[in-house]
Amino acid sequence: MIIAIAGDHGGFALKQKIREHLVQKGIKVVDLGTDSEESVDYPQFGRACAVAVASGKAERGIVVCGTGIGISIAANKVPGIRCALCTSVEMAELARKHNDANILAMGGRITSTEDAVKITDAWLDTEFEGGRHKRRVDMLDSM
Ligand code: RB5
Repeated sequence: MIIAIAGDHGGFALKQKIREHLVQKGIKVVDLGTDSEESVDYPQFGRACAVAVASGKAERGIVVCGTGIGISIAANKVPGIRCALCTSVEMAELARKHNDANILAMGGRITSTEDAVKITDAWLDTEFEGGRHKRRVDMLDSM
């Protein structure tokens, strides 16, 4: 699996930790920046990750900003993207089971590294349930 990862300065430290974790798991990571804690604009990074996923260059994506809010809004502007901001393992599991979320968003100022790793693993390991949820996801994708 190839995962695209991106974040702004507010998410930089957590993005680096998540990248490390993914690499340790043997996952191929495409890091779209940012590369430091210097101030940048989260919409550009959310969009870059979303375009990588929507175009098929990456199967899924992870985005991180200070809260996860701005960068998730940016990612969701790209057709075909279902970006879910998750602050718990339960949210990550449900984002996969019910929403088939193809991008996970987290907040570097909100979520600890330890929790972010658990959230990431839950999101990676949980499959979409399909069934009644598929019709709703199809509705999202046709909007
Ligand atoms: C940047 O200061 C901050 O606004 C950003 O990281 C994020 O929290 C936006 O939603």
